[in-house]
Amino acid sequence: MTDARDFFGYRDPDDEPGQRPEETADEELAPPQIEDAVTLDDLAVISRIDPGDMLGRVQRLPGQLAEARRVVAAAKLPESHRDVDGVLVLAMGGSAIGAELVAGIAGDRLRVPLTVHRDYGLPAWAGKRTLVIAVSHSGETVETLSGVDEARRRGLPLVVASTGGRLGADAVADRTPYLQYRATGQPRAAIGFGLGLVHELLSRLELLTDPDPLGPAVEALDAVLGRNAPSVETEASVAKQLAWSIYGRIPAVYGAGIMLPVAHRWKTQFNENAKAWAMFEPMPEANHNAIEGSLNPRELSDALYVVELRDPNEPAEIADRYAVVNELLGERATNRSVVWAEGPSPLARVLTAVALGDLVSVYLAILYQTDPTPVTLLAMLKQRLARSTD
Ligand code: PA5
Repeated sequence: MTDARDFFGYRDPDDEPGQRPEETADEELAPPQIEDAVTLDDLAVISRIDPGDMLGRVQRLPGQLAEARRVVAAAKLPESHRDVDGVLVLAMGGSAIGAELVAGIAGDRLRVPLTVHRDYGLPAWAGKRTLVIAVSHSGETVETLSGVDEARRRGLPLVVASTGGRLGADAVADRTPYLQYRATGQPRAAIGFGLGLVHELLSRLELLTDPDPLGPAVEALDAVLGRNAPSVETEASVAKQLAWSIYGRIPAVYGAGIMLPVAHRWKTQFNENAKAWAMFEPMPEANHNAIEGSLNPRELSDALYVVELRDPNEPAEIADRYAVVNELLGERATNRSVVWAEGPSPLARVLTAVALGDLVSVYLAILYQTDPTPVTLLAMLKQRLARSTD
């Protein structure tokens, strides 16, 4: 199996990234060769390449949603947290995408604007009537912690969500409402908490009115997870078939409305699970720029794979656009699939589309014979930054 260290030729955080070992380096340091493409229908091969069971973790999404509901129901929240003009979620990466998905799901049912802040500090506009929600799986993310420190300095209403870390410890110390959840594994595999905690919190504070019921959404989710489980043969599995189509190509995922943050999730899951290049494009914005960018370099015209994530309830204007785009690009961009979200509500359709993308990204990792779980470069980057600021 290859991982980033083999690819970039370094094995230790103290080695310089980008420098391959000396010509005469030990055999042991040479990147392992990728064997012939593997099948996705051999469970033993799958578990050899996915020893951390990322596939199993995707299947835990429904359970995480139910647990998130319990955590929020048990939290003590001051009445004043309801009386706000806006919500600001502080989070990065796998901990941030949940709130972005909630903003899409909630749409017009959000009584106040919801902004996801993926940076250090706080925006200048955040004031006493801004509810700050800090989400960090590890509780140690420096950008998020710096925003929380600033929120405390400004005396803003604050809720934190984490498995622990400094974020959790500080919350306990100063009695900040703390949505503590238990989840081992990678932050991106805790999406049921990232999404569920924010969704339930906003519903409980009545900032999200008329929330979609969880039961039917979980039913739809279970159906998609079941139809694409590792034991289902490629012939019957949309997720496995898509992974095969994308294999060897760079996926470009398109989404509009509630499918836009889902397209973003697909992109980041391709990056982190399959360790692969990926991009996403927002519709209809992409019609004003990206559509023109599909010609050059001509020799790479086969290198992309377009996935259109579609909501069966999308507005007619969006459906018309996709029809015209597909007509125009028909001959040029033939590597393309349309994926229809499923389920009776925006919550259900977002969850089913997220789960499908998560599975595709892990199956793609398996085809690349790359362990989906570790994020070596990301971890090394955090380590080095911590050292340089000590
Ligand atoms: O997926 C990942 O591992 C990252 O995107 C992390 O979520 C990100 O670095 C933030 O860390 P945390 O989720 O612990 O706050």
